[in-house]
Amino acid sequence: MCGIVGYVGGQHAAPILVEGLSRLEYRGYDSAGIGVLTSGAPRVVRTVGRVRDLVDALPKRLAGTVGIGHTRWATHGPATTANAHPHRSEDGRIVLVHNGIIDNAAALRERLEAAGVTFASETDTEVLVHLVARSSAVTLEDKVLDAVSQVVGTWAVAVVSADHPDRIVVARNGSPLVLGIGEKEMFVASDVSALVRHTSQVVHLEDGELASVTADGFRTFTAQARDVPKTTETVTMTADELELGGHGTFMHKEMHEQPQTLLRMLGGRLDDRFATARLDGLRIEPRELRQFRRVKILGCGSAYYVGQMGASMIEDLARIPADAEPASEFRYRNPIIEPDTLYVAVSQSGETADTLFAVREIQRKGGRVVGLVNVVGSSIARACDGGVYLHAGPEVAVASTKALTHMGVGFALLALLLGRLHDLSFADGARIVEGLKKLPDQVAAVLAEEKAIAEVAATVAQAPSLFFLGRVRGYPVAREGAQKFKEISYRHAEAYPASELKHGPLALVSPELPTVAIVPDDELLERNVGALHEVSARGGPLLVVTHEGVDLGVACARIDVPKNEPELDPVLLTIPLQLLAYHAALVLGQDIDRPRNLAKSVTVE
Ligand code: AGP
Repeated sequence: MCGIVGYVGGQHAAPILVEGLSRLEYRGYDSAGIGVLTSGAPRVVRTVGRVRDLVDALPKRLAGTVGIGHTRWATHGPATTANAHPHRSEDGRIVLVHNGIIDNAAALRERLEAAGVTFASETDTEVLVHLVARSSAVTLEDKVLDAVSQVVGTWAVAVVSADHPDRIVVARNGSPLVLGIGEKEMFVASDVSALVRHTSQVVHLEDGELASVTADGFRTFTAQARDVPKTTETVTMTADELELGGHGTFMHKEMHEQPQTLLRMLGGRLDDRFATARLDGLRIEPRELRQFRRVKILGCGSAYYVGQMGASMIEDLARIPADAEPASEFRYRNPIIEPDTLYVAVSQSGETADTLFAVREIQRKGGRVVGLVNVVGSSIARACDGGVYLHAGPEVAVASTKALTHMGVGFALLALLLGRLHDLSFADGARIVEGLKKLPDQVAAVLAEEKAIAEVAATVAQAPSLFFLGRVRGYPVAREGAQKFKEISYRHAEAYPASELKHGPLALVSPELPTVAIVPDDELLERNVGALHEVSARGGPLLVVTHEGVDLGVACARIDVPKNEPELDPVLLTIPLQLLAYHAALVLGQDIDRPRNLAKSVTVE
């Protein structure tokens, strides 16, 4: 999704903006641009395509120490140079970038056109720059305030003006925005990854806030022009974490980081003495936690599938009803919010608009919502009433891997804690604690099988379509496996509950349709083996993800993963499916880290 960077200080802005934009590439975009205050009018350069195309289009000399940049993900109007940001006022003296969607753009455009404004793009954003330019206010801060008070929707905006050449004015409502504090210089970005090369000191803006940023500092204020004091936070992310570090792709790097990142995540969170988990960030007292009679998990895409895994862990270990629902559906159906339900929002980026909206809707109706979030200080993390940080480190590849594994472990910790507050015995608690301790090494063992998995991937990569089958605990694993496969290989992949096979999809089974079956060694083994036979008897090629020593009694390719506890096995069973999707995409020559049409962080609905 769209990205914003801004710089004001003593250095040339253009290289800093371009470098910041390249850090935001992972979010997904189709065009890019920068606007720099040079002596005289601001200079704007925009291109369709990659940031490197923008670099090629830049003039040799672009002097100026104040500027803003943007990567655009087309919503209103196709990806063209005219629609790329920054947008300019008619006299070219004001330049603006925007993330989000202006809902009343059509009405505003009509009004502005009637007043004689000629639009240069099809975007919703352009109304903003004309509103700023037409404001009768004197200061840039008041002009921006004037403009945002007329729009409805979501925005993170950054504005520079030739008439106020020492500053950037920014505003936030529903789209993330952060300030980076340097020595006699300041940075602005929609994502801290664009700042970490320059500073670790950041200030997050909240919805409804604006800031005026100069080289010497910043002032934050509300739409009512009331000053708001801010606390500076230190980010732990380093620029090195955003490098490939010898891997060909970020997805490959992130899959291989899992053993270390899991160890880090579990550090200090397992309590051997009481065979439970320590999750202080939840900020809910044990007595209160015990009162919840139900758990409802909300997330989007893969986070929702891991939410389904989490729901079954909670039901298994805590024996309280739990279910997961796509946050994108939940927000549109006037949900019933119950006081004795614990709501859990799960998100890697912490910026997914649908999940954030679901959090706000729950809170508006008086519900209690905690977050399982990876990005520290993100909008969802800050909106929730408490939560568990996933500590997977930055995830750059659009296809999520390590963050999902961490979500699975986060749910296991939550299920263990809830279980031990209910009827999970000490012995069973200790069994799960030991299982969690084993996980990082077991993940490493699966990753060590990469070569063999790559060979299997080559055999299924050419199939036009794949089935992924799983039952009960295996079903979310199958869903996530299919999701990963289609995201990066662009092959059709469909997940089905194994129990549903006879109710329709069996008609599709043929020698041309490989089935990837998830067969954990649990109480449902026999039933799952039965499903394999049904597929095999109809000539369907089988790839089975299972555990060592499991007798499948059917001809198939197989990937064995180490056995853990039945409640934790789903987490391990997803690891080979990451590698399977990765190597199929590699064989097919796809752009693994930036799959077409997808964005890392879906900040619009
Ligand atoms: C995962 O590979 C996908 N890119 C996608 O489904 C993702 O999980 C979803 O958009 C939710 O993102 P979030 O975890 O940042 O909220």
